[in-house]
Amino acid sequence: MNSSGPRWWASTRSTLSWNTVLHPHYGMYVWPCAVVLAQYLWTHREALGGQAVLELGAGVSLPGVVAARCGAKVILSDGAAASLCLENCRRSCEANGLLRAVGVVSLTWGEVSPELLLLPRLDVILGSDVFYEPRDFQDVLLTAAVLLRRNPGAQFWTTYQERSADWSIEALLHRWKLNCVDVPLEAFDADEAELAGSTLPGNHSVIMMIITMETEDAVP
Ligand SMILES: C[S@@+](CC[C@H](N)C(=O)[O-])C[C@H]1O[C@@H](n2cnc3c(N)ncnc32)[C@H](O)[C@@H]1O
Repeated sequence: MNSSGPRWWASTRSTLSWNTVLHPHYGMYVWPCAVVLAQYLWTHREALGGQAVLELGAGVSLPGVVAARCGAKVILSDGAAASLCLENCRRSCEANGLLRAVGVVSLTWGEVSPELLLLPRLDVILGSDVFYEPRDFQDVLLTAAVLLRRNPGAQFWTTYQERSADWSIEALLHRWKLNCVDVPLEAFDADEAELAGSTLPGNHSVIMMIITMETEDAVP
């Protein structure tokens, strides 16, 4: 089913569409984190033009689609075993007239695969709700660390939904020599239960982070 999605308003108006597929896989739905990250991208749309952007664990791909609409050169990715999600990435591009402009590749976190090594130069890596399962945290950050090392100056923009106060990525950031800066939601008007016409953010506790190599400064 093709349905109308969030609308970002400013000097320009952008309405997005995506496919709603009835399937229990968590990559087949838009998550609150995706709406918050998309709002961050929209707020920084002028800086995104021409930037090379990769989305990890893209699922329905809302942030990647917004980045592409802002003029970025976007590649979407999801796990090699998640063929339905990869297909969904393509459907989201199609629904938004981006099929030719946006690439889709399989990238499984924690694997240094030919697909990962063959990626072009990147400026921004996106990850919405990729810190969903604590058992995956190490693999997500390994992939991020490999990409940040191969792309000096690149940043990992990621949103995280707090599901347990016990979960932490701090030790892993230290292990991979990564620096993390939290960006307050109010800094990009995302401290609202409803964003761009979407009620998904609701009362969920979502955190926006910028992760870089330890030597570089993240500019929120
Ligand atoms: C909670 S969903 C978030 C989907 C989307 N980013 C969003 O926020 O709407 C997690 C996503 O990560 C993907 N994923 C899970 N394990 C993965 C892995 N090991 N490697 C790559 N992607 C993975 C899932 O297929 C799914 O699309």
